[in-house]
Amino acid sequence: MSDGLPEPEEKARVVRGMFDRISARYNLVNRVMTFGMDTGWRRRTVAELRLPGNAIVADLACGTGDLCEELLEAGYRTVGLDFSHGMLVHARTRAPVAEADILRLPLADSSTDGATCGFAMRNVTNLGELFAETARIVRPEGRIGFLETAEPEGRLLRAGHAVYFKRIVPLIGGALSDGDAYRYLPRSTAYLPEPERLLSMVREAGFGEVERFSLAGGAAQLLVATRR
Ligand SMILES: C[S@@+](CC[C@H](N)C(=O)[O-])C[C@H]1O[C@@H](n2cnc3c(N)ncnc32)[C@H](O)[C@@H]1O
Repeated sequence: MSDGLPEPEEKARVVRGMFDRISARYNLVNRVMTFGMDTGWRRRTVAELRLPGNAIVADLACGTGDLCEELLEAGYRTVGLDFSHGMLVHARTRAPVAEADILRLPLADSSTDGATCGFAMRNVTNLGELFAETARIVRPEGRIGFLETAEPEGRLLRAGHAVYFKRIVPLIGGALSDGDAYRYLPRSTAYLPEPERLLSMVREAGFGEVERFSLAGGAAQLLVATRR
């Protein structure tokens, strides 16, 4: 992978180390750099699940647990899974959390009614494996919501977003946390396939009713789907 991004064999180690380092101020930087919009994006992710109350929803790459809290607020039961010890230490959620690789989940086949995943698609070494592993643990008719950053489509918005994401976000991250990590953030979107390919990958993994919502003028995207 060009642009100074880690090669697949070292990516997991680099990503885990980076989140361990930024964990203490992760929530603060998120709120500042998204002007607080990330909270609404997570709420929308949970709202789009439309599962019965009390459903079990695994939150993959839960980090500090913001999506777990949204899931609990919506009346679901949840468990958060993440491989960064630092992020889990700083988790502020009432949900149980466990250290695990989301490409090898410690959950039985069809054991959950749904799964969510916030801002981790670009961080895994193999996105196809993540969708396949999610399909393995979610029961037929179960629902998933995957939230991720994105690039706006219109030329003007795209240009403005590029300046903000590539120049301002690293400055905010550097001032409040770790500049290297927040320089990696905009570059790591290069790992994300184009929207159409992303939707095909979700279908190929065993999901139907696949939808993509563009959030905040295209700065974020939400994929939702139903397990076939
Ligand atoms: C940007 S954070 C998102 C955290 C949280 N979902 C949120 O919405 O704020 C990405 C998270 O993905 C986790 N992660 C990346 N690859 C992972 C993997 N293979 N297994 C488990 N966690 C992983 C990182 O440790 C980090 O906590």
